[in-house]
Amino acid sequence: MTRALSTPPVIASGSLGGSPQPVLATTGGLLLRPWEEADAPAFLSAYQDDGIRRWHTRRPATEPQVREWFDAYRQDWKHEKGGHWAITRDGVEVLGRIALRGFDFDDGMASAAYWVLSAARGAGVASRSLLAVTTWALDEIGFHRLELDHSTRNPASCRVATKSGYLLEGTKRSAAVHDDGRHDMHLHARVRGD
Ligand SMILES: CC(C)(COP(=O)(O)OP(=O)(O)OC[C@H]1O[C@@H](n2cnc3c(N)ncnc32)[C@H](O)[C@@H]1OP(=O)(O)O)[C@@H](O)C(=O)NCCC(=O)NCCS
Repeated sequence: MTRALSTPPVIASGSLGGSPQPVLATTGGLLLRPWEEADAPAFLSAYQDDGIRRWHTRRPATEPQVREWFDAYRQDWKHEKGGHWAITRDGVEVLGRIALRGFDFDDGMASAAYWVLSAARGAGVASRSLLAVTTWALDEIGFHRLELDHSTRNPASCRVATKSGYLLEGTKRSAAVHDDGRHDMHLHARVRGD
């Protein structure tokens, strides 16, 4: 009789990176697709927005740097570290960004992140996109737990999380550096079966 040498991973290594990153549809007709070179100007200009600058401290400064980020995103997918999607109308116009990062296949975990361009806010773009990647990850791929954190001073992000079924689990004290200093961070998670 052969014995397993360790606890089997929740998701088998090699199950994602060998296939193209999928395009995901949200309710209401948005398309989440991989970033394309032509998105670089829109991506760069998003980081000129005060709301996005406030909550996202790692920011690209030039279009070549954006293209390096896009390349890193492709590598993340290939090496099964994460998935990064442009939130688009009709696959063309970029409305925002959504990502699942830190793929941990052993425990079946990943972390969500997002921003939406100011002109597209307040219409459910973030929450519909978060629901689409969540359904894909939990129901199609077999992830078990998806986490999301945000500054306790960012109530809009807290609302997106709770609307999308990510329960508030607690507050990580002094957990992230922002431009104006350290912030406490809410930890939310959605677990399969919630
Ligand atoms: C947070 C953000 C992604 C939300 O995007 P969005 O597409 O407008 O989100 P949705 O429309 O799906 O939902 C927003 C919810 O927040 C609520 N909201 C907005 N501003 C709020 C505020 N100041 N206080 C409380 N709730 C607020 C909206 O009313 C809505 O809830 P409702 O549907 O119950 O009315 C967007 O505002 C953004 O990109 N902000 C800047 C960057 C950022 O905060 N990124 C997240 C870092 S963790």
